[in-house]
Amino acid sequence: MTLSSNEISATAATSSITLDGEVNHRSAYPYHYKYIRDVILATHKVPWLEQLVGLRKEGWRNEGLDEVYMERQAVIQEPDMETQRFWFEQMRRVMSELDHFGVGLVPPAGEFKFLDIGCAPGGFSSYILTKNRQAHGTGVTLDIFQGGYPVLLEKRCQRRYTLVLRDLLQLDFTYDGAPPPVPLVPIPPSLRDHQYVLVLVDGHHLRHYRPESPSSAPDAPSPPYMAFRDAFFLSQLLLALDALRPGGTLVLKLTHAEYTHTAQILFFLDAISDRLALCKPRVLHRSRATFYAVARGVHVDRAPPGWVSGLRALWREARFGGEVEGMGRALRAGELDFIVSPGEIVEVWLDRLVKLARQVWGIQVRGLQKLFERTGVQPGTAANEQSEHEDQ
Ligand SMILES: C[S@@+](CC[C@H](N)C(=O)[O-])C[C@H]1O[C@@H](n2cnc3c(N)ncnc32)[C@H](O)[C@@H]1O
Repeated sequence: MTLSSNEISATAATSSITLDGEVNHRSAYPYHYKYIRDVILATHKVPWLEQLVGLRKEGWRNEGLDEVYMERQAVIQEPDMETQRFWFEQMRRVMSELDHFGVGLVPPAGEFKFLDIGCAPGGFSSYILTKNRQAHGTGVTLDIFQGGYPVLLEKRCQRRYTLVLRDLLQLDFTYDGAPPPVPLVPIPPSLRDHQYVLVLVDGHHLRHYRPESPSSAPDAPSPPYMAFRDAFFLSQLLLALDALRPGGTLVLKLTHAEYTHTAQILFFLDAISDRLALCKPRVLHRSRATFYAVARGVHVDRAPPGWVSGLRALWREARFGGEVEGMGRALRAGELDFIVSPGEIVEVWLDRLVKLARQVWGIQVRGLQKLFERTGVQPGTAANEQSEHEDQ
């Protein structure tokens, strides 16, 4: 029997899908997200995932931890210069972990062209340009006046770097001749044409994002967060697929490996690459649900007909399908089933998913345990109780 997401979500209270990399917000995920997770728990012995589910429930029940997340959120919205420098250094360390995880991700010498999507404050790019003095990079990020972060790349690196200040939500990914409902900007030549050996995707949609428009005064209200979150993820993915050289490496930030929509994206990456691995850096990501998929030897043309065009069609839905003109919406259950349905994952790919994700779950368990110790949360007491807030 092959279940589709629509069948799985028949009783779901809401039908939004999140592909977001940010973790410190409260939201109850509808059941269809968790279908794959529950099948894993029922059919595989994965103590780390069992522990993780228990710890998440405990975390969400604890008010002390709530305060920690609220404080984080406040700092993210208005970081001072010291915080930004701290993040920059942290990002360099994350990139170092990614490099050492995928041995040879950044060669120490020789021509090397990379694209860094969501590049500010610039830690990833700084690490690469410092390690390889012949490397050339292009970074794309949101301008500060729209809510983006400043780029802090060292002067010595800047002459080997092209910075593109662009709102990814304003780029035009339409592909079938149908014009977008609102005017969009063509993808700049420096961001396409399969020219990069390594493409890093580390952007995440910002809560304080401001669209570029005449009314976009600094104090103008931001559009609802969910309006553009999934469109932003799909924009990054499509940009990366257009920019990556055949056989190149794609590093893509994702969250919750055990959730249905993430498993569908991982299945996609597995099918188009020679080698897929999941890396969860200890720096910054340890207690969060985020991790990086590292796909090496990527050949986009291995994707069966309809996959990439399906992603483009989905981008259009996510970007413009909202109730207000020009506004987007969250993806719905079943909208990624054209790649693989949850039922097919369960039938043919679940062992592979568990093997890929085991380490990611283990690192988060240890990260959450440490976070709980620091904040005085006593884990374990509520592991078997039901909680709607079990998402982190
Ligand atoms: C976690 S930071 C990336 C950090 C980066 N990897 C580094 O090494 O410093 C997320 C990035 O997403 C970018 N971003 C968010 N919304 C964007 C948008 N609409 N268009 C372009 N970039 C965006 C932010 O400006 C920021 O640079």
